[in-house]
Amino acid sequence: MTSQAQRPLACIVLAAGKGTRMKSRLPKVLHEVAGRPMVRHALDAAGDLAPERVVVVVGPGMDAVRDAVAPHPVAVQAEQRGTADAVLAARGALEGFAGDVIVLYGDTPLVTPETLRALRDARAAADDPAVVVLGMRPDEPGAYGRLVTDGTGRLEAIVEFLDASEEQRAIGLCNAGLMAFDGARMWDLLDRIGSDNAKGEFYLTDAVAVARSLGHACRVVEGPAGEVVGVNSRVELAEVERLLQERLRRRAMEEGATLVDPGTVWLAADTRLGRDVVIGPNVFFGPGVEVADGVEILAFCHLEGVRIAEGARIGPFARLRPGAEIGPDCHVGNFVEVKNARLGRGAKANHLSYIGDAAVGERANIGAGTITCNYDGYLKHRTEIGAGAFIGSNTALVAPVSVGAGAVVAAGSVVTAEVPDDALAIARGRQRVLDGGGARLRERGKAAKAAKTGQAPSGT
Ligand code: UD1
Ligand code: MG
Repeated sequence: MTSQAQRPLACIVLAAGKGTRMKSRLPKVLHEVAGRPMVRHALDAAGDLAPERVVVVVGPGMDAVRDAVAPHPVAVQAEQRGTADAVLAARGALEGFAGDVIVLYGDTPLVTPETLRALRDARAAADDPAVVVLGMRPDEPGAYGRLVTDGTGRLEAIVEFLDASEEQRAIGLCNAGLMAFDGARMWDLLDRIGSDNAKGEFYLTDAVAVARSLGHACRVVEGPAGEVVGVNSRVELAEVERLLQERLRRRAMEEGATLVDPGTVWLAADTRLGRDVVIGPNVFFGPGVEVADGVEILAFCHLEGVRIAEGARIGPFARLRPGAEIGPDCHVGNFVEVKNARLGRGAKANHLSYIGDAAVGERANIGAGTITCNYDGYLKHRTEIGAGAFIGSNTALVAPVSVGAGAVVAAGSVVTAEVPDDALAIARGRQRVLDGGGARLRERGKAAKAAKTGQAPSGT
């Protein structure tokens, strides 16, 4: 269905549930899926429709949720008296708003913008429905509310499972939980909802029967049951994570990345992969990773908060931490950790290094075992390495320190002072060679052992 001139949109996200079954100090909706709190997934899906207003309904004392959903305002539902009561808590925040209002749940993070759009579009139907409900046909309808229709697709009522007759329980079409309302009529409908039901709660679902009794049309839009899987326990959290990972992996591949063994690649909701990116098995993406075209990420890498430019090769076994910026065509190899550091085009750190709080110039070569000593126990300090510099293996760069462009640092150095451009720094004990010294040492050792054990010296 195409929409005419669209009315303004508001979204209400219900998140007041205590989530007792999570057995957690953290409010349920702050548990993460694909590296992002559940409630943010709902907000992101809503955000895709560019709503004019968004309100999140929370329980008392859920300040952490308030922080997580900022800059959107929260409304506090003082007591959990049912979904209609929860929506009513948002009334003040939507004062004067009369467009479309979509209600979604903070604990169903798989909802897509397409589904929200379908609900909104249905609001524009010719019969001007006061309420549009997302319906689904799950394999196991279980305790979901059942949608009672008149046979022509018009919705008459939603009956909660506990209040349903045997006949109603046999209905396969269920309430997924998402609803779109005409904001101009919504508050009046909600004011008329009572709590005379099995749970003694104010059911948002009763808005349908109330609307029908006032002669307003109501509609169902059918959507995929897989999108409204809710999370009430950690087992369900893991299941939702699995479903979302599958979706993210498929999308990554559809957009031109090769996942050699997709099931072992862990993505974050905001992972951005360019074309012809190749990702080996067992790679983990935390939040905030952007990978440009043609990058190769070999097996067993752990990445978070990093930008990787085109043509770079990462891993195997690399760890890129927040603030890392890997330039074009860089190589970052095994057991290299990079944190808050920029590597210029073509720079290489192939083995066993820590590069933190640093800038590495173009084509610089960081030898195996190079460590930027960025922390003195109190403060962090920066290391600057110029373009084309060569850092020998097993070098400690004691920050703050800089190595100039084209400079060479000898292997095993402990660099504590500036190395100018094109200079050679050797900061280690000078080697002494004593002719025959090795043999003499051996003889002395053997003699000492013989004196102690009382046996004649033998062998080597
Ligand atoms: C609700 C629907 C049911 C539907 C199901 C889909 C009602 C009455 N029933 O049932 O028809 O099939 O969702 O999953 O709406 N919440 C609050 N404050 C409250 C009560 C709930 O914020 O006072 C929030 C919860 O945190 C949750 C959401 O609203 O995010 C839904 O509440 P929940 O208790 O899960 O409703 P269900 O009984 O599952
Ligand atoms: Mg529920």
